[in-house]
Amino acid sequence: MHLVSETMRYEVHSCEVEKVGDGLCDEPIGIFDSGLGGVSVLKQLIKVMPHENFMYFGDSMNAPYGTKALDDIREMTITHVKNLLQQNAKAVVVACNTATSAALAQLRKMYPDVPLIGIEPAIKPAVLEHPGGKVLVMATPMTLRQEKFCKLMGRYEDNAEIIPLACPGLMEYVERGETSGKGLHQYLTQLFWDIRDEALDAIVLGCTHYPFVKDTILDVLGNDVQIYDGALGTAKETRRRLKESGLLTNDLSPGTVVFHSSGDFEGEEKRFHTLLGV
Ligand code: DGL
Repeated sequence: MHLVSETMRYEVHSCEVEKVGDGLCDEPIGIFDSGLGGVSVLKQLIKVMPHENFMYFGDSMNAPYGTKALDDIREMTITHVKNLLQQNAKAVVVACNTATSAALAQLRKMYPDVPLIGIEPAIKPAVLEHPGGKVLVMATPMTLRQEKFCKLMGRYEDNAEIIPLACPGLMEYVERGETSGKGLHQYLTQLFWDIRDEALDAIVLGCTHYPFVKDTILDVLGNDVQIYDGALGTAKETRRRLKESGLLTNDLSPGTVVFHSSGDFEGEEKRFHTLLGV
């Protein structure tokens, strides 16, 4: 793990915090993704828990995960979560749908006492809010191949038409910082070619990178379709798990974010700040 890091302070927009524990809970919450996509989850975590400290690790040297073999994804995810825990993370958010489906069950067996929170495609709210509708689910090839996804889809496919769409190559646009523009537009036009005539009601962004290209997705599909992602739900679940374990901080000063990456740290740190919006 290439550990070059920098700390930055962010503004507190909401000061509501639940006082739990005895003030010994100021260790950071670890956040893991294959690259910068987990920043979409980090944004929500900061909104929901502005006083917490966060330690982000993006394995961009090995990205993309979504087109790799299951065993490799599992091994890399376990290694990096282990590293975050060794650096005193009090909980870890696996802010990656691909890594969650590949490794979270095993990680929970390895660390039964640690709050480990994953993310999955937000099919449930999309289907419940559009009964009988057409719901497109965009995710990595690996996420869509997993049994976890098939079970999730199986639970809701009687209530809506669910159309899974693998998006190999899309996360790379976000990693490069290319969240709009002609190249991305062309890529998406091609990606959506076979479904261009479908009257979609909802789109589920089943990869944490995709919220950053949401506007271009809407632009290409050119229709009034509602977009869902699991970031806010994951952030709320993290707060719930920390509260339940008595691990929420008592410190009311602004939290900190530390960024670590296994790749080209300097370029990525810049993109990390841009995506986080600070
Ligand atoms: N951000 C990851 C996810 O949520 C995947 C990107 C990748 O292919 O590495 O699935």
